Amino acid sequence: MEKLMETIKGRKSVRSFDDRPVSEEHRRDIDEFIKTIRNPFDIPVEFVLLDAKEHGLSSPVLSGENLYVAGKVEKRSYADVAFGYSFEQLVLHAWSLGIGTVWIGGTMKREIFEKAAGLCEGEVMPCVSPFGYPAAKRSVKETLMRKGIGADSRLAADKLFFDEKWGTALSPDEDTADLLEMVRWAPSAVNKQPWRIIVSNGVFHFYEKKDKGYVNDATLDLQKIDLGIALCHFVLGIEEKGKTALVSVSDPGIAIPADAEYIASVKVQ
Ligand SMILES: Cc1cc2nc3c(=O)[nH]c(=O)nc-3n(C[C@H](O)[C@H](O)[C@H](O)COP(=O)(O)O)c2cc1C
Repeated sequence: MEKLMETIKGRKSVRSFDDRPVSEEHRRDIDEFIKTIRNPFDIPVEFVLLDAKEHGLSSPVLSGENLYVAGKVEKRSYADVAFGYSFEQLVLHAWSLGIGTVWIGGTMKREIFEKAAGLCEGEVMPCVSPFGYPAAKRSVKETLMRKGIGADSRLAADKLFFDEKWGTALSPDEDTADLLEMVRWAPSAVNKQPWRIIVSNGVFHFYEKKDKGYVNDATLDLQKIDLGIALCHFVLGIEEKGKTALVSVSDPGIAIPADAEYIASVKVQ
């Protein structure tokens, strides 16, 4: 448990890189790791590594990066959740190698990245990330940005995790508290943390609490990607405890607010 918890709580988005290219050894490791990535929805996510100079790729929030990874997925129901789940595995693995990343879903010229990634009809490329070694010091721009979105903090557990009913705070046992802590520290778009969990009869039901005024285009719900990330942390935590996570999509019909949506359920075995 220590190791995953450390990676999850230690990881921070990196937007300032030190210009060093990712080593051959790390690239090989990443290529091998990508082959192992799966998600519970069995929706394949394809990863493409892209040289920044060769393809003219950049982002106004980044400096010193020279490699990107783009993720592509077929446009279909649950593609966004599956994408979040798969891409986050790569983010955590990269961090454990000392490679910095940051989810980029907005601050990029999408068309340029989509062209470089060879996006086809019927596919979406929800997010990309730079891959590189963190600079010794964050840029002023990055420091201000982190402050602006409160990137170093998260909502309290009693606002996120409920017992049987929406809004009733959960009092978890130690094992469950660890797993929920891993969910709590997940990264999310603009650090909105849209995940909510209701524990009912021992099953963990995940919901998306949609943010007011959050810009979603019809094909891409960034907050559903956040839910995939949260689910990934939860399932990896269960697996690290040597248990099995059974993920299903079967709405238990618990009353929820109008701005919430059921996503998936997890049973621990
Ligand atoms: C789906 C998604 C999209 C994101 N898009 C952007 C982005 O376009 N630009 C950016 O600078 N950060 C982006 N982020 C990074 C978040 O702002 C960051 O994860 C959050 O503030 C928490 O900070 P931390 O990752 O350091 O814990 C995104 C994160 C997620 C999960």
